[in-house]
Amino acid sequence: MSTIIEISYLFSSVLFILGIKNLSSPKTARRGNFFAAVGMLIAIVVTLLDRHVLTFEWIIIGGLIGSVIGAILAQKTAMTGMPQMVGMLNGFGGGASALVALSEFLKLDGSVPVHTGIAIIASLLIGGVTFTGSMIAFGKLQGIVTGKVVKYPGQHWINLAMLILVVAAGAFVVVNPTELSLTLSIVFVALVLGVTLVLPIGGADMPVAISLLNSYSGIAGATTGFVLQNNELIIAGSLVGASGIILTNIMCKAMNRSLMNVVLGGWESAGTVGSAAETSHKGQIKSVDQEELAMIFDVANSVVIVPGYGMAVAQAQHAVRDLVNALENKGKNVRFAIHPVAGRMPGHMNVLLAEAQISYDKMLAMEDINDDFPNTDIALIIGANDVVNPAARHDKASPIYGMPILNVDYAKTVVINKRSLNVGYAGIDNELFFYPNALMYFGDAKDAISKLTHEVKNL
Ligand code: TAP
Repeated sequence: MSTIIEISYLFSSVLFILGIKNLSSPKTARRGNFFAAVGMLIAIVVTLLDRHVLTFEWIIIGGLIGSVIGAILAQKTAMTGMPQMVGMLNGFGGGASALVALSEFLKLDGSVPVHTGIAIIASLLIGGVTFTGSMIAFGKLQGIVTGKVVKYPGQHWINLAMLILVVAAGAFVVVNPTELSLTLSIVFVALVLGVTLVLPIGGADMPVAISLLNSYSGIAGATTGFVLQNNELIIAGSLVGASGIILTNIMCKAMNRSLMNVVLGGWESAGTVGSAAETSHKGQIKSVDQEELAMIFDVANSVVIVPGYGMAVAQAQHAVRDLVNALENKGKNVRFAIHPVAGRMPGHMNVLLAEAQISYDKMLAMEDINDDFPNTDIALIIGANDVVNPAARHDKASPIYGMPILNVDYAKTVVINKRSLNVGYAGIDNELFFYPNALMYFGDAKDAISKLTHEVKNL
């Protein structure tokens, strides 16, 4: 029986790995999700058979309640709310790992082997930090907790002191496994540490923090796997831990930031710097309406669309697809340029465009399209701001200096659709709006793009 169980675990681990592999491309992402879900189903069924469950009553009740809540949340959460949803789920993962470790500690009732004791303390620490840290991250993105960078004197020393305290107390508990009250104190300090570690991080950096917490939740799962001596949990937790760290690194690189800069509270929250474009630039902007714009499109051959967070907010992806169809019917070459951190989560733009049945072949990554902008007649920016801010290339004083951007300003004409001159998530001015080849097309993305499509069709 145990051989069958281990082989089943191995099989589901292979499905997890295939799942992650397939998730790396939008074309195969659905298949990847399916592989991972089947792997998880096998893992759960096998674990229930393996663990000599005395009564399934509570497991079924818990499973049903959790499934109903999960299904409702998944239906109700808007695409723009996905980062905080992921944040909350990470927190539950970390909390569950800590609870399992604590119950195992209670079950062993003082006779805890050293290696199990170390795994229990690690699970309590990482799981506890992940739980409260993720709840703060959720609160920041939801606007319940301040999105500002919270700083107070000696904060890093206080955090370090708490960490040392937990490790020292943990070492004591490993040697004296009867210390229940000290173990509970470790849980308490870990929960406080989660709050104090995430609170200083600005709202703008929350998606990176969530990716990091996702990694922590995986590591907490893996350490709990050592507590339970469950190979499947160790493998699955390690996969989540490693992929979370890799994703965090990719996001930091795409923003030209170091992880330390993010974790120590580098950027303020969205828009806190204010509408700088309106104050610090003396230049003139040129704005167009849909009729003028349709005429400009009429004489263009190549169009590159750059979607950003505003397109997600306006849910304009279907309107954008209609515009693409209308332009293609008139013989124009239309492609999309996707910046790795456009929107608020990795792959945000690809998912939205795919939802509107826009072919993946039209979506080009930054490195594949950036050299094409000088040969592009119109770069149409829809609700993007930071990812097309030329200050990143030359303004050493800019917080986004060094972040790779889409070189839209090299196109013959740049059309920027947004509602105002307001800043993007980094809260900084965008000089692009004042460039001689730039035209502002003001309005909510869905409404403005629909009006433009109407005019394009009527020409
Ligand atoms: P942003 O720079 O955040 O700009 C979005 C713009 O959309 C805003 O300036 C806003 O201007 C406009 N907008 C909002 N609602 C709109 C609507 N209904 N219709 C039309 N426009 C609307 O977006 P971006 O260029 O996509 O850049 C993403 C930012 O998020 C970067 O700073 C990036 O570093 C950060 N970030 C991203 C990620 C990931 S993984 N994607 C992770 C962490 C951080 P108005 O108010 O004037 O309309």
